Amino acid sequence: MTIEEQAFALLAANRRTTDGHTYTVPSPDAYPYQWLWDSCFHAIVLAKSEPEAAKDELRALVSRQLPNGMIPHIIYWVPGSLHRYEWGTDGTSALTQPPMLAYAVKAIYEKTGDDAFVAEIYPSLMRYYQYLIDRRDPRDHHLIGIINPDESGEDNSPRFDSVLHVPDDILLADHLDRRRELIDANRTCNFDAEFCMKTHFWVKDVPFNVILIENLRILARISERLGKENDKHFLTLNADLITEAMRVLLFADGVFWSAAGADSYERLSVATWAHFVPLFAGLYSSAEARELVKNQLLNEDTFWASRGVRTVSRRERAYRPDGFWRGSVWMAPHWFIYRGLMRYGFIDEARLIREKSLALLERAGFREYFDPETGAGYGAHNFTWGALVTDMMDI
Ligand code: GLC
Repeated sequence: MTIEEQAFALLAANRRTTDGHTYTVPSPDAYPYQWLWDSCFHAIVLAKSEPEAAKDELRALVSRQLPNGMIPHIIYWVPGSLHRYEWGTDGTSALTQPPMLAYAVKAIYEKTGDDAFVAEIYPSLMRYYQYLIDRRDPRDHHLIGIINPDESGEDNSPRFDSVLHVPDDILLADHLDRRRELIDANRTCNFDAEFCMKTHFWVKDVPFNVILIENLRILARISERLGKENDKHFLTLNADLITEAMRVLLFADGVFWSAAGADSYERLSVATWAHFVPLFAGLYSSAEARELVKNQLLNEDTFWASRGVRTVSRRERAYRPDGFWRGSVWMAPHWFIYRGLMRYGFIDEARLIREKSLALLERAGFREYFDPETGAGYGAHNFTWGALVTDMMDI
């Protein structure tokens, strides 16, 4: 089987149905529930091969939207299923994840032209993005805050070490304990995140805000098609405001940096692949992008490795080639970088990312993350993110 065929077969094998809801688990052993941004990745891929399954995946996600509009980052579908950690209440987590939902709906629409599906799911999307803008920006700074590293999708990234007050050689288990303390704090406040969490963990994270900008723009185009002028205005305005705030408050030395604090801006100065994500939403000028690609992406001393792009610069003390989000290669970052490079016309570099991704999967299989120097596979088996290579073929 080709890698592409293996990818589609893996998504089919990891599909589950519970109470009439059909969704895909990221890995049957390690991650046997539904995750928010994973499901968006699944839908992007399934849009090409099995669009009905892609629609069901998103329907399942929004079916557990919370009353305040938040979409939880985990849905533990199977009642009484064993989950090691309680990330919330009542069968879902109390966190969210990078808001890729509008992008996933667009991917489905582009393949199917299914207006009815878009109209059906649109109200849930609107409520979700409205929640992020209204409830995760209490100071009206136009930058959205995340309340736990897990909301970034990069659970263990050293970008957050200083906020968590942990050393750069922290053990995975100790790190998890810190993140669970944050959940406890949130629970104590009855999950009223925006007023409670700002004293514990509040990070204006670059990838989350970039992904939000791009998704707000997409949803604005959808709302226009649906004739919802007010929504379109709200979404476009907020995409512009966040874009501007990122430039004014998070840009320094040629790149964007995440910042900690609800009121303040404490720069989180660990260099990670977050520098490249703004390419995805076109936030760098062409000249800035050229410098970034030349000096950082293709720099073997920092991010460019023989097997892929390191998620943390090799110059950082926290860098671990086999570490969970501490430098190892992950397929979703590869996909975001690929799409960013394509947006700016860096076709050769995008092609290299695709080739490295395919080579990793061929050598190590569909593993969770990979060693940038040796290509060894680590973490979960039968992990779905490798399927994103099927969306890196458009060169
Ligand atoms: C890990 C990843 C996270 C992902 C989850 C399920 O926790 O860090 O981004 O959503 O696994 O695959």
